[in-house]
Amino acid sequence: MNTADLDAALARAREEIRASSDDAGLKAVERKYLGKGGTLAAWLAEIPRLPPEQRGAFGKAVNELKRAIADGIAARGAELERERTERALADTSFDPSLPPPVAPRGSLHPITQVTREIEDLFTSMGYQVVDGPEVETDWNNFEALNIPQDHPARDSQDTFYMSGPGKLVLRTHTSPVQIRAMRRFRPPLRVIAPGKVFRNEATDASHEHTFHQLEGLVVDKGVSVAHLVHAMKTLLRGIFQRDLEIRLRPGYFPFVEPGFELDARCPFCTEGCSVCKRTRWIELLPCGLVHPNVLRACDVDPEEWGGFAFGLGLSRLVMLRYGIDDVRLLLSGELRFLEQF
Ligand code: PHE
Repeated sequence: MNTADLDAALARAREEIRASSDDAGLKAVERKYLGKGGTLAAWLAEIPRLPPEQRGAFGKAVNELKRAIADGIAARGAELERERTERALADTSFDPSLPPPVAPRGSLHPITQVTREIEDLFTSMGYQVVDGPEVETDWNNFEALNIPQDHPARDSQDTFYMSGPGKLVLRTHTSPVQIRAMRRFRPPLRVIAPGKVFRNEATDASHEHTFHQLEGLVVDKGVSVAHLVHAMKTLLRGIFQRDLEIRLRPGYFPFVEPGFELDARCPFCTEGCSVCKRTRWIELLPCGLVHPNVLRACDVDPEEWGGFAFGLGLSRLVMLRYGIDDVRLLLSGELRFLEQF
């Protein structure tokens, strides 16, 4: 073991370092010379066997060799890194300076937005939000609501009947949820039930076979029209952010008695506009006091309990609110329409 051996080892190591074309190759060279069982470790282990006067100089020489190899490895590593960067920059198929693609964000459907607003309003007054199936029994959709088989009101509802066993229909209104709620929760109760309803009609700008309603039902002791009026005024204030004058006109629905059409002062004008057709009133919703026959159908004693119900046309309300002139847009899935909300 002499200086010539050390010089030869350094020359060999430098050759191998130069020949390394990637980090893995460089690591292998490092392990071979500088690693635990490597060349230099073996030489250092021999120091005790050298004549004492040679030990110091030899040890120093090996350490210098070690530093020289380590420097060589570090320099080659930096060079490889530089080459990689240059290759990446030369590759024009990839531009690292481009901003990342922005994921498109959706928005809530206007019907969902208005539904949630009204849900918040009514839950703050102690109502619960309930749900019912879109495929209903004939009994829940008609019979229990005081609409018997041969009743003319059935014709005006343009029902989709399901084929197959059982008398099933696509619900024509959200009123069957009144029946489900009363039977399930028993009075006293306060519920709203938003949802889809279906009618077999020709479609045009103001008619759609599928649209949304929001049913309301309160059953308690001593419920009167005054309670109904108060709830409707609160609803209006929530929707239009101000107090609007209302009026009740008689309206006929077999499941309420008395039944009303509730109109509100047009929120969009002071002397008549196209929305209110110059009448200054907009037809807002049908409502009334729950008919005793409906209570009886749910095994609720009409001598003891009374209630009011209303059927808000959600689709129509959303159209009013946002100035939408064609109901068919609502369920069209048309992105250019939906992106506006
Ligand atoms: N269910 C009725 C309809 O869709 C509306 C309504 C609900 C009327 C509640 C009165 C009370 O035509």
